[in-house]
Amino acid sequence: MQEIIRQLQEKRARARAGGGPKRIEAQHKKGKLTARERIELFLDEGTFEEWDMFVEHRCHDFGMGEQSTPGDGVVTGYGTVNGRLVFVFSQDFTVFGGSLSEAHAEKICKIMDHALKVGAPVIGLNDSGGARIQEGVASLAGYAEVFQRNVMASGVVPQISMIMGPCAGGAVYSPAMTDFIFMVKDSSYMFVTGPDVVKTVTHETVTAEELGGAITHTSKSGVADLAFENDVEALLQLRRFVDFLPSNNKQKPPVRPTLDPASRVEMSLDTLIPENPNKPYDMKELILKVVDDADFFEIAPTYAANIITGFGRMEGQTVGFVANQPMVLAGCLDIDSSRKAARFVRFCDAFNIPLVTFVDVPGFLPGTTQEFGGIIKHGAKLLYAYAECTVPKVTLITRKAYGGAYDVMSSKHLRGDVNFAWPSAEIAVMGPKGAVEIIFRQDIGDAQKIADRTEEYRQKFANPFVAGHRGFIDDVIRPHATRRRICRSLAMLRDKQLENPWRKHGNIPL
Ligand code: HXC
Repeated sequence: MQEIIRQLQEKRARARAGGGPKRIEAQHKKGKLTARERIELFLDEGTFEEWDMFVEHRCHDFGMGEQSTPGDGVVTGYGTVNGRLVFVFSQDFTVFGGSLSEAHAEKICKIMDHALKVGAPVIGLNDSGGARIQEGVASLAGYAEVFQRNVMASGVVPQISMIMGPCAGGAVYSPAMTDFIFMVKDSSYMFVTGPDVVKTVTHETVTAEELGGAITHTSKSGVADLAFENDVEALLQLRRFVDFLPSNNKQKPPVRPTLDPASRVEMSLDTLIPENPNKPYDMKELILKVVDDADFFEIAPTYAANIITGFGRMEGQTVGFVANQPMVLAGCLDIDSSRKAARFVRFCDAFNIPLVTFVDVPGFLPGTTQEFGGIIKHGAKLLYAYAECTVPKVTLITRKAYGGAYDVMSSKHLRGDVNFAWPSAEIAVMGPKGAVEIIFRQDIGDAQKIADRTEEYRQKFANPFVAGHRGFIDDVIRPHATRRRICRSLAMLRDKQLENPWRKHGNIPL
């Protein structure tokens, strides 16, 4: 017995030592925490229950029989974040570069299976050189086992990937199938083929950072949702983020008490919309003035910034916000913003998070780049997502709601539950000038006539009442009362029941 306990202690000590002091020092020198330090920081203090500390790889090739570390390069288990259960795996770069062996994959699969059984989020802290090269196909099989579970867990429990080191080759596809990908600046990267292969195949010279760093993926490709300055900021923000989410698709998000009254009026909103309809304003100001305690967790702020997506709370309840941003591309919908918002809407719908949509959209972005890039299919994604969605939907048109984009942005016709407009709303097929130049093309040379007709069109459509007459808008509200009116609507909708017809799955235009 004493001997077994001694062995236990010795094995635990070896597992905790990871790849040894030298490699840990190298990890720290890169500004990175170790796998265990990350878990410590992420979970509530003292709540981590570790599993499979004694798992070791089964490879004997290439001298691997003599090299083994208990735990095999990944720390797995569960714990709590602000008292709520989460499962976590944290890859240990100090052990074989965090590379994924068959045994390493089995550890990840085990916590994923348990997370599904009990209905809790899976958080991956990725820091890995990819497939364990010495293991060959056994490692590839391990990846595929993880992929399969990512897909089965999708829409059942939230899955979040925090990329904190290399993530290359096919390994990127597990994070790609999770709900959110966050990265750490200057120390993480993701790519399917690295700079050397790129150089050989396409003759492009590119650094790992340029090819797949946090800035690239959060501004150019849109693969990742947020970039953090360092490990500490990343893990603390991850804690804040998890707090917005329900544990699974059968639960509602946690309600966090607030002292911010639902009846709070914001007089400054009465002057948010500029007199000149072509002048932009910052839609984020509206979100920050409406949510509880001005606490807004924005998703993908630096990608497709013409649409804002993120989480806030109203009377303590998590709400997903989608809003056109007039400051960028005049708030037009384009390929990137449609994809970004569609994915966000579908996440909220899968996890019982009500949606609040703020609309100021002059239409879809015209041009060959957009048409050749498939704006028809990509724009349809957002349309499909809103139309399919059954969670409470509250919409507010602040200014422009033109053309197909009016329909798309959570309109009454796509089962919007409560649709408000501010007095400044203009709901029409297009802006007055463009409309007149089409209807009265023969008068284009006559400036006075065009001006008169434009004014006539403006009088008729540049207001919320035409839509109001038909009941497409439930009420025209004063901007200062926006928080109160949305809170009341969400409270009314709290027990909303709506189901789509049975089907195996829909066929969203991918
Ligand atoms: C086994 C690996 C490894 C791997 C790194 N190591 N990657 N061991 N399999 N894939 C080991 C190294 O041998 C080294 O061991 C330690 O980890 C640290 O690696 P370094 O190279 O010293 O670190 P660094 O200079 O920071 O470079 C990190 C790296 C590089 C860029 C990740 O190691 C690298 O390029 N590794 C190979 C990446 C790769 O090609 N992976 C396969 C991708 S394909 P010691 O003992 O010296 O500390 C793939 C397919 C998945 O993943 C398919 C799924 C469908």
